[in-house]
Amino acid sequence: MRLVLMGMPGVGKGTQATRLSESLGVVHLSTGDILRDAVKAGMSLGLKAKDAMASGKLVTDKLIGDMISKRLAQHDVEGGFILDGFPRTVEQVAILDRVLEQRGVRLDRVILLGASEQEIVRRLSGRRVCESCGAVYRVESKSSSKGEACERCEGALVQRPDDTEEVIRERLRVYREQTLPIADAYKKRGLLIKVEGTGAPEEVFERLQAELVAA
Ligand code: AP5
Repeated sequence: MRLVLMGMPGVGKGTQATRLSESLGVVHLSTGDILRDAVKAGMSLGLKAKDAMASGKLVTDKLIGDMISKRLAQHDVEGGFILDGFPRTVEQVAILDRVLEQRGVRLDRVILLGASEQEIVRRLSGRRVCESCGAVYRVESKSSSKGEACERCEGALVQRPDDTEEVIRERLRVYREQTLPIADAYKKRGLLIKVEGTGAPEEVFERLQAELVAA
């Protein structure tokens, strides 16, 4: 399976892609996670991306294109992948098309997860992530049994710098302007599946699996 998982910031792409990658046995590739790891490691990729990420803007297509082309050339993705957070612009769709064509493969489906903007702001304001292992928690429900520390590794739970209300609003604006139009392009190709992203994560996952089987 070669899938793209798209949707507004905080709609649950990472949450659902993690589950899907386990159930399908394919690699989960999150451009946001790759960039955050690069920022943390002080790599030049991270230094170039840091300011755009912190202000809710997109990193340049060139930077993302080079990064994802290299990643998709690695052996572990030959059995399939779920792209989470890429493509995000019309130009990135063209980049992905070129990379897949060079490899002689095609996308199977593009899943568009949906939720209301009110729900998104609530989710992102309440998200905490482990500074060490990246595990994701929710302040109001899926909180850590170890309080302010991660259940898995005891790392500190922190708020992402782009999860402040002002930056969330900017990320939503950028999404509407630059990313949402690509859903139409994939719809025209007959690849798009829309899945409602509200309800408990388990419910959303069941819905998503059912839609994939039916498609
Ligand atoms: P990225 O990391 O991709 O951020 P995003 O798209 O804004 O998505 P998030 O990671 O915030 O949310 P998500 O949809 O994965 O939701 P999650 O599962 O965590 O990108 C960050 C930045 O990097 C961008 O702004 C940009 O600068 C740059 N970037 C990345 N890719 C790029 C690209 N291709 N081009 C250019 N720039 C790029 O869930 C959110 C919260 O909700 C969590 O707390 C979770 O526990 C909770 N939750 C999940 N599901 C549910 C549910 N069903 N009910 C209740 N709560 C839920």
